[in-house]
Amino acid sequence: MLDGLAKPQAEISPKFLYDELGSSLFTAITLLDEYYPTRCENEIFSRHAAEIVAHAGQIQALIDLGAGDCAKAERLLAHVRPSQYVPIDISVDYLKAAVKRIADRYPELDIVALGMDFFNDLSLPDDVLAARRTFFYPGSSIGNLPPAQAAELLSSIRGQCDDGALIIGVDLVKDRSILEPAYDDAVGVTSAFNLNMLRHVNSILGSDFDLAQWQHVACFNEARSRMEMHLRARVATTVTWPGGQRRFEQGEKIHTEDSYKYRPHAFKAMLARAGFGQIRYWTDAREWFAVFCARA
Ligand code: TRP
Repeated sequence: MLDGLAKPQAEISPKFLYDELGSSLFTAITLLDEYYPTRCENEIFSRHAAEIVAHAGQIQALIDLGAGDCAKAERLLAHVRPSQYVPIDISVDYLKAAVKRIADRYPELDIVALGMDFFNDLSLPDDVLAARRTFFYPGSSIGNLPPAQAAELLSSIRGQCDDGALIIGVDLVKDRSILEPAYDDAVGVTSAFNLNMLRHVNSILGSDFDLAQWQHVACFNEARSRMEMHLRARVATTVTWPGGQRRFEQGEKIHTEDSYKYRPHAFKAMLARAGFGQIRYWTDAREWFAVFCARA
């Protein structure tokens, strides 16, 4: 984190977006008129969930990457009955309430909840069934990784399922007039979400970021096909923390997160390179978002 702040182009890891307040603000983002991804993905699952799980083939273990409140997987469970459900999130505590809800609803389902950072290491414990695994990765979080790392994650998922499938949500390239408001809404929730990161960093690092001096900036970098989120200094300012400091000039930016947008054929090619076959995808009516299902 400190080396990120010291870089000529300063950066803070997107992990710091999600403290308790940050997670609540993200939930609020998903309710905004401008933030289309959640609504588009829901539309796709409402219309096509049965077809999507049918394409995945037989599912013994449903492995839910970044499960959170498990609500998205529950929509699949209405159409398919795996022997095992494996919700994975950074903290197993996040999963507790949701796991209880699912266990009450599906008493015969074996649930193995795992707290792990699958971005770094996807090796699963022995109690996860090895045959017919379907990985479920909704929400387009794959877009928050640079393409080379996204490709690596797809390959490591492929390495964990010999005879299974992957169901994954991907946000698609579209006009900046739609993309930019989705990351800079009129109510200001996204701005609060990004700025909250500085509050979180202050509490962890003991730094003295003054939030009033920073402004949320979101712009579409068309050449790199990504939304870029920054915090920009409104005035020249010096931020200090125990053992260090950094001066920021007026207008200087801290990079906080990217969200890559794909064209369907490009994502399809990436899945194929990772070793997946029988690749299909479904979109919402406006073709803003896609859910891919690919067989191992
Ligand atoms: N994963 C979300 C996305 O890329 C995160 C996100 C939404 C986000 N709005 C943001 C990250 C604003 C930083 C700033 O869609």
